[in-house]
Amino acid sequence: MAEKYSRATLTRNFLKTITRIKNPDEMLADAGDAGLEKTLGVWDLIILGVGAIIGSGIFAVVGIAAAGGDSSLGAGPALMVSMVIAAIACIFSALCYSEFATMIPVAGGAYTYTFATLGEFAAWMVGWVLMLEYAIGFIAVACAWSNHLVQFLSGFERFLPAWLSNPPVWLVNDPFTASKIVAANPDTFVPHVFGVPICINLPAILIVLLITAILVKGTKDSAKMAGIMVFVKLAVIALFVIAGAFYVKPENWTPFAPNGVEGIFAGAFLIFFAYIGFDALATAAEECKNPQKDLPVGIIGSLLVTTVVYVLVALILTGMQDTAAPVPAAFLKAPMAYCMMTIAHQNWAAGLISIGSLAGLTSVLLVLEMAATRILYAMSRDHFISKRFQKLHPKFKTPALLTWTVGLLAVVGILTLNLDVAAELCNYGTFTSFIIVCVAVLILRKTDPDRPRPFKVPFSPVVPSLGIITCGGLMVYKSMQPSSSALLFPVWLGVGAMIYLLYGFVKNRLNENKIHNEKVHNKRQELLK
Ligand code: ALA
Repeated sequence: MAEKYSRATLTRNFLKTITRIKNPDEMLADAGDAGLEKTLGVWDLIILGVGAIIGSGIFAVVGIAAAGGDSSLGAGPALMVSMVIAAIACIFSALCYSEFATMIPVAGGAYTYTFATLGEFAAWMVGWVLMLEYAIGFIAVACAWSNHLVQFLSGFERFLPAWLSNPPVWLVNDPFTASKIVAANPDTFVPHVFGVPICINLPAILIVLLITAILVKGTKDSAKMAGIMVFVKLAVIALFVIAGAFYVKPENWTPFAPNGVEGIFAGAFLIFFAYIGFDALATAAEECKNPQKDLPVGIIGSLLVTTVVYVLVALILTGMQDTAAPVPAAFLKAPMAYCMMTIAHQNWAAGLISIGSLAGLTSVLLVLEMAATRILYAMSRDHFISKRFQKLHPKFKTPALLTWTVGLLAVVGILTLNLDVAAELCNYGTFTSFIIVCVAVLILRKTDPDRPRPFKVPFSPVVPSLGIITCGGLMVYKSMQPSSSALLFPVWLGVGAMIYLLYGFVKNRLNENKIHNEKVHNKRQELLK
């Protein structure tokens, strides 16, 4: 009986410990003590937001989402409806992010909000899942950047040496993609060391190192750099919309939804990827000059700007190319450049669009790596990972060691990961974090109703619940289709839970003991005086 009792007590104590929440006041105090430099204003935020959002989604994925011919399940001209549906799902979560970001403006985003509502274990798991979104997403977009660069250089065949306009397969691909190319073309050269094929995606590695160096130099500089990239990518998208409008054939807009409602939802699921990134703004809350006012405007503003841009692109794209019939492979890879080159015969515009897509992907990379480091920074502050990572660069005041660690881990990922699966896992991580933030808003409204909320989600609990339903629905929809990522996501969660139990939990308890002993020691010293 006694044993049973003590086991029950142990279980109760364990559950109490892992659901221990961190008070938001404590978080604000921690951030105030040794926080990051506050340099970001509202325009910096909108630029960072648009910089984070517009990337490979609109420059590549949009082709697959639009393809509504016989063998594809895309939306066809109804892609613009899919885009609005995906944007609505994001706006529900964006409103919840804004409530939290203004209430607890410290680094860490969804990770921090979970610690304030669901406790230590859930926070660790959210931090772990967010690494899928930001760190794995960072790797996937770096490889997409490399593909776009190779495609861009191939257009200069007549001016560049062959090794640059048509680089060796093993120097610009990950091992999995290279093996597919070799299977299709057995003559392709790939060097082997002890029978192991060597493939190094050199452009992806170089861009990761460059972005890491820029981020170490400073958030303000990164925002400035993202600003230039945002301008370039918006300019080429505007060029596409204006020039493309002259080549639109209205008959391409009928039938409007060749695959019906199913096609519209399939398109919405795919194009959701194009909206990922606005949540990264919340992770930089601690670096905002006036987070209460600027963050909601930054988050919702960048989402609205993006939605308008996306709908215009969908309108022109589906007006130029008949998407109710099977579309060419080149349209699936780079739809805007394809339309300009093959339908409008404006090669100069296609070249400019390639430059714009490189700029777009570069700014997405900047924000994704910054978000990954800011979450790990918050986790280090909570003793989940070494305190050494909190050390700021003496001159640039950025978490330099942490940023380089993320950069070098990304290089390892580029050398080893299967990128198709990585991109899907990135979606899973994003859905999970959106759902958790919506749940967390509902919980904190109940447990801490009097806390000042400079921005409140309107019509709560309806809006957070709709966020949970829309994001959850998309996630369930994806999980019902057989894929490696649907299997790997639970594995990722299981590995995260194991690391928490064997490392994070133990480290936190040791730290608690240390603080307790220090307090006892100080009290004793006082009494002895
Ligand atoms: N939204 C980002 C992109 O489209 C992830 O690249």
